[in-house]
Amino acid sequence: MAIHIDEKEKVFHLEMAHSSYIFRVLNNAELQHLYYGRKIQAKVNLANLANYTPRNFELFTAAAPDNGLDEFNQYQPALIANEYASYGRGDFRHPAYQVKLPNGSRITQLKYQGYEYKRGKTRIDNLPSTFDDEGDKAEQLTIILKEQQLNLIVKLNYTIFPDQDVLVRNVQFSNCSNEKIELLQAMSLQLDLPDSNFDLIQFAGAWLRERYPYRQHLHMGIQMVDSLRYASSPQQNPFFMLARPATIESHGDVYAFNLIYSGNFQNMIEVDHYATTRVTVGINPFESAFVLAPNESFVTPEALLSFSSQGLNAMSQQLAAFYQKHLVNPNFSYKQRPIVLNSWEAMTYELSTEKILTLAKEAKEVGIELFVLDDGWFGHRNDDTSALGDWFTNEERIPEGISYLAKEMHKLGLQFGLWFEPEMISLDSELYRKHSEWLIKTPKMEPAVGRNQYVLDFTRAEVVEYLFNVMCKVIDETQLDYIKWDMNRHIADAYSSDLEPERQLEFGHRYILGVYKLFEKLTSKYKQVLFESCSSGGGRFDLGMMYYAPQAWTSDDTDPIERLKIQQGTSYGYSLSMMGTHVSASPNQQSGRRTSLQTRANVAYFGDFGYELDLLKLSETEIAEIRQQIDFYKKYRAIFQQGAFYRLNEKTDGNEFVWQVLAPDKTLAIVLYAQVLANVNPSNKRIYLQGLDAKKQYQVTGYDGKFYGDELMYAGLAIKLSDEMANPIVSTKDFLTQLLVVQEI
Ligand code: DGJ
Repeated sequence: MAIHIDEKEKVFHLEMAHSSYIFRVLNNAELQHLYYGRKIQAKVNLANLANYTPRNFELFTAAAPDNGLDEFNQYQPALIANEYASYGRGDFRHPAYQVKLPNGSRITQLKYQGYEYKRGKTRIDNLPSTFDDEGDKAEQLTIILKEQQLNLIVKLNYTIFPDQDVLVRNVQFSNCSNEKIELLQAMSLQLDLPDSNFDLIQFAGAWLRERYPYRQHLHMGIQMVDSLRYASSPQQNPFFMLARPATIESHGDVYAFNLIYSGNFQNMIEVDHYATTRVTVGINPFESAFVLAPNESFVTPEALLSFSSQGLNAMSQQLAAFYQKHLVNPNFSYKQRPIVLNSWEAMTYELSTEKILTLAKEAKEVGIELFVLDDGWFGHRNDDTSALGDWFTNEERIPEGISYLAKEMHKLGLQFGLWFEPEMISLDSELYRKHSEWLIKTPKMEPAVGRNQYVLDFTRAEVVEYLFNVMCKVIDETQLDYIKWDMNRHIADAYSSDLEPERQLEFGHRYILGVYKLFEKLTSKYKQVLFESCSSGGGRFDLGMMYYAPQAWTSDDTDPIERLKIQQGTSYGYSLSMMGTHVSASPNQQSGRRTSLQTRANVAYFGDFGYELDLLKLSETEIAEIRQQIDFYKKYRAIFQQGAFYRLNEKTDGNEFVWQVLAPDKTLAIVLYAQVLANVNPSNKRIYLQGLDAKKQYQVTGYDGKFYGDELMYAGLAIKLSDEMANPIVSTKDFLTQLLVVQEI
């Protein structure tokens, strides 16, 4: 058993592969957090962990207002590291939850009632969640708490998984009283750390520059990462880390946090006046509250916590391994993902049956496996002003019908995929003419428009059901292999005419539950259909989506130089197999930058590879190069999608990126060396590989001789980036990349 429970002292020690998480029940029946970090021995006497710096209590009582209620052995709520804190009884930090009682009071107190222990981890109903399909290997501890003034039962769930350093938490609130109460805040996890000597590493950005890493030392007060866009958003990502200032890629302590959720989230890090740190992660409490009628329960999404003492690379790798086993749709988590040709940048809305099929033939010819017909194939869509919601063939563009096209694709030996934006509606659509009441708007106000489109009210069961039926029809008619699920605007006017006034603050959560419901229905009915999520590129790159759609379009920015930053940032918290990465045309449509085909592919190999350009416009030389690229990727696909990923340069100056993927058996590694701007008369450059078998012998493409693993790791390899590597069609020495295949002999 990896969860150690001391019944007498009421101490709970959750022992993971290399980390320990410990808390206990205090004499006053509240929970005290004791420790989370590198694994320590399980023992009973935890006085050392429980101690905090003594204060002069008399002085406090006389002069200081924040000593709280000193009624239990000098128990001071303001000093205690709490597991799941309330507000209003002397702990003045931001709480983990807040409940409004029938009499209007928000002052509550949770007291320990007991615990439950069980093996295995089942999925949560209606929400994406972790699981343990191997049966009884995971262990789950539930701490049962009760609010004293009324019969509110709060269950804190903790799950740990064998051989993993990941702890998954969530909370269930059940109203067992006869009166209605209101849940004003319900975070999925709280973690109190005893000091604040941490750097916050967060991933922020915008459309076309998603998930750039930002690292700054914690300061006194609140630091917050959140979203109010009803989507996890490209602006902020729910993934973040707290790392010791000395922590780098290859060593040091780091805590990682993420929420398995795609709607409004809030990660709050509060450093208080004693320099302790409180972290809370969960649904954003702003614009959200839940009515709990008698016998009603509310279950929070799951949040995950992970610790490593081995640096940021080790953290990324342990998260990737965890997602693959316990989060991503098992029909695809170990499956190799197909090489895609997506029509968007090649054709946008300028579609015709002939153009599509000619491109598809060429795609097949170069070795592409999946043809994705993006936006424009439905309704009377000719630009972005119309037809969202009309998920049937655009007969003007494809008079033979979408099922004909699908048949032709399958005949060619290609898989076939389609783009949908299920949550959206255009005013100029048949759907709007039939169901204008399904559009999200507030009474008596014109709804706000975004990208010429509006959002469907996914809190309504009939909307979800309608979309399920129309999408099933298309999937059945086309024997579809893949769906790209896009979302191109955020939600304004959050209101549902279908909800009672007192439940309007439930809108955001109910909306995303509707989205999950549609995903759930489709993925369980069509187990073979691969879903790729997308939100104007990487705007909904979160673990909630990944549960259903194992990969996501990383960014609409397909410039390889921009992608170096985007993919590197994304790699901290998400695995390579989650990232859609395509080669597009040069000059690039977003940046105007010219780069070689080689550089474009070298960067795109690190993910789910594909193309996003018109093959018919390329020269024979370029087509020949693409054929080689596809052969290369097919040969090494397993390691690019499932291998362990390393960021080899400890600090990116923004000009140099060095990536490595490694096969689990260490027989093969591939290294990318990328240099943004030319370095004339460059300084000495060596790269140091990681994770190889010190005693194995390897050969490296472009280098004579054999190398032992230890030599490649400790003595490194001199980089020979030279001008010849620049593609002759790109007359610049900037944007050079080199790929090294390191193969065991
Ligand atoms: C945004 C996506 O990110 C693009 O790849 C493309 O699918 C467009 N939407 C289509 O409207």
